[in-house]
Amino acid sequence: MARKDAPSFACNACGAVHAKWAGRCDACGAWNSIEEQKPLSSGPGAKSLGAARGKTVPLVDLSGEEPAPPRIATGVAELDRVLGGGLVPSSALLIGGDPGIGKSTLLLQAAAAYAHAGAKVVYVSGEEATAQIRMRAARLGLKDAQVKLAAETNLRDVLTTLDAEKPDVAIIDSIQTMWLDSVDSAPGSVSQVRASAHELTSFAKRGGSAVIMVGHVTKDGQIAGPRVVEHMVDATLYFEGDGARPFRILRSVKNRFGPAAEIGVFEMTGGGLREVANPSALFLSDREKDVSGSAVFAGLEGTRPMLSEIQALVADSPLGTPRRAVVGCDSARLAMILAVLDARCGISFAQMDVHLNVAGGLRIMEPAADLAIAAALLSALRDRPLPAQAVAFGEISLSGAVRTAPQPELRLREASRLGFTSALIPSQVKTREKSGMRVTRIEDLGALLEHAFDAS
Ligand code: TYD
Ligand code: MG
Repeated sequence: MARKDAPSFACNACGAVHAKWAGRCDACGAWNSIEEQKPLSSGPGAKSLGAARGKTVPLVDLSGEEPAPPRIATGVAELDRVLGGGLVPSSALLIGGDPGIGKSTLLLQAAAAYAHAGAKVVYVSGEEATAQIRMRAARLGLKDAQVKLAAETNLRDVLTTLDAEKPDVAIIDSIQTMWLDSVDSAPGSVSQVRASAHELTSFAKRGGSAVIMVGHVTKDGQIAGPRVVEHMVDATLYFEGDGARPFRILRSVKNRFGPAAEIGVFEMTGGGLREVANPSALFLSDREKDVSGSAVFAGLEGTRPMLSEIQALVADSPLGTPRRAVVGCDSARLAMILAVLDARCGISFAQMDVHLNVAGGLRIMEPAADLAIAAALLSALRDRPLPAQAVAFGEISLSGAVRTAPQPELRLREASRLGFTSALIPSQVKTREKSGMRVTRIEDLGALLEHAFDAS
């Protein structure tokens, strides 16, 4: 049996626990990511229980009236929606994102909005000096916001300050820069980040504050260091976007107090982040009509309908193994759709390079995009444009059948609102509402070929 005080090791990238140090993590294959773990200063596992018995904890019934948690709304509608209506007191929130994506900007604007709504807000930065934050605030036109600032990385001092100040909202930018003197490893290491997140989460629970932590994301999209932080907090949001475009998407991946998979859309401007109230119009704004290989997908992001353009390009390949390049959706889905087209309709892309792109830098994860992807691929292959005023949605199964997707009426309503007049939809969908759309029910890929390309 392992000794109680034997060191344990964990992988920085995936959180897998190992008995001994190794250069490469067996679980995720990352190199140089394994570090020794120090026990937490408090919490479960800190001390061995020995023979002493604990006291009994009171047990209550599951039934019982519990008022809905109060929320601190900002009035920044995109942020409040992603949070499910606003911040919940005594909760811990993690916001992850690539460096430079705009996390500090978002949080400074949020801090000012919370302060404006009457909350007491403390913003602690471990990355920038107060002068830099003030300069940013001036640029954002938020110089007069009632936000208290500190530039500090020593978490013990930060916690003492927060305990004295008792803010409604505390912002920690970022969790990787904070360090605890009781933990004997460098800031940003798994043990430090985990211990810091643990301390901040306990502060939120005991002090009644909502604590927002910023976490940097590694190359492969994980919040650097420990995924364990995600398990500790009540909600995790990701702030995404690519450097080339000004659009940013705030996505909730976990939320104990609200819906997950909800998104908010922002645009980064010279004067900070601006909310985008009508993202469908934005993501379709550059669409060229009457070009082959383009299909409009009537999608759903959380509870919100969102249209996006899927573009496909198919060309004879000079390569032995043709290219499959995908931007904005899962390459495994493209491979599956190509395989189904081949096996069920005899349409082969085997000698062709296939490029697939979601316009506007959006990332689509819904399987309901299959039908629009297939339509774009066929349109590219046949060099025949799809009707310009048509949208599509539906999941394709391995048999080639088109399966239904959640919330069809919401999708159709959004399409109609943006001036679309017809839709290719799964055959099982029953539409009760008169959306004003001409719908064509597509049973399988054969039916898609017939309706959209007059051929079977
Ligand atoms: P920042 O919030 O510092 O990113 P993060 O905290 O995620 O690392 O944002 C940095 C980028 O945003 C920087 O490249 C400049 C840009 N920016 C603007 O375009 N407009 C603005 O008003 C501000 C404050 C920043
Ligand atoms: Mg920052």
